[in-house]
Amino acid sequence: MSFNFPVEVLKGLQTPYYYYDMALLEQTLRYVRSEADQYGYKVHYAVKANANERLLKAINAKGFGADCVSGNEVQKALDCGFDPSGVVYAGVGKSDREINIGLDNDIACFNVESIPELEIIDELAGLKGKIANVALRINPNVNANTHHYIRTGLEENKFGINQWDLENVLDVLKRMKHVKLLGLHFHIGSQIMDLNSFKDLCLRVNEIQKWFISHQIFPEVINVGGGLGIDYEQPDANAIPDFKSFFRLFDEILELKPGQELHFELGRSMVAQCGVLMSKVLYVKNGVNTKFAIIDAGMNDLIRPALYQAYHKVENLSSTGETEKYDVVGPICESSDCFGKAIVLPETKRGDLITIRSAGAYGEVMANGYNLREIPVAYYSDNI
Ligand code: LLP
Repeated sequence: MSFNFPVEVLKGLQTPYYYYDMALLEQTLRYVRSEADQYGYKVHYAVKANANERLLKAINAKGFGADCVSGNEVQKALDCGFDPSGVVYAGVGKSDREINIGLDNDIACFNVESIPELEIIDELAGLKGKIANVALRINPNVNANTHHYIRTGLEENKFGINQWDLENVLDVLKRMKHVKLLGLHFHIGSQIMDLNSFKDLCLRVNEIQKWFISHQIFPEVINVGGGLGIDYEQPDANAIPDFKSFFRLFDEILELKPGQELHFELGRSMVAQCGVLMSKVLYVKNGVNTKFAIIDAGMNDLIRPALYQAYHKVENLSSTGETEKYDVVGPICESSDCFGKAIVLPETKRGDLITIRSAGAYGEVMANGYNLREIPVAYYSDNI
């Protein structure tokens, strides 16, 4: 199954906007479910990838949990129907207000990223007479081969507790009365295409588990985060990521102990391909080697190309003319407001409908009002 464009309907809508193929989302979710269920793995959807209510409700309806990184994400997940027992909360800088949202709602687990944070959770839980479940987010020092802005699992990164600090964490935990250590949490980065990075993670988790067990600690839950990449180059050929190989690798390499649960926090791989950013061409003008196709969507609508030099496939849905090379750029006053250089498109003219593919993850949710532009609206295939 691949993305379906009802072009005539889409042409009639005011651009720029996000458009979601809900049938493709449904297929993707079903596949994740069936592959994870084979091994009894639990998947928490990483809300940060896309917090759109329609998507959150569809994801909750399939029985996934939610992985949140702010108090507002926790609240949003709960508002969209997620059960608190399926909500986990990570983040290197949780404020007291945010921790209290988690405590008040009895969420499943706080993924704790430092000793001072652990102390504050213990204190705040104590004030409420509660016991907070925590997982230690451990920095596994595994290098995920991905863009350096979205790599998180190296000691130099700000995330998690470094392995040389673990003895101290255990000492601190011994004195705490209002936290219960539930498990261990890891996340090495995002848009990881080489499964060997996950293999390295599994091997490191096996070692770290041994260390904990030798200290008489038996984690009930191992959470290995998210990060499975998607095919930005060929969104139609690979509309649904290879969840089969992904989960199989963990089954083969990670040494789970009897009774232990394995959890995942998948974001991008669940929602990226079901969303596109739709735009129209405003002007075509001559450049030095190519023409500029100036479209009405900009880096405020989809920031990934400007921020991570990310590639998103750009297509002209209106034209079948002779191909030419275009620099496809937005209207924002920044040279980085460019969706791609020397892109081969059929002859492109004012008013043509342009789609920017694979924008369902880290697209709408990262949109902003720079240049006082509107935040783009969203339409859905089952409701246009
Ligand atoms: N768990 C944790 C602790 C995370 O930090 C992240 C993503 C995920 C799970 C979900 O990772 P995913 O399965 O989506 O790769 N804005 C960037 C991506 C930032 C990812 C941040 N953390 C982008 O547009 O590429």
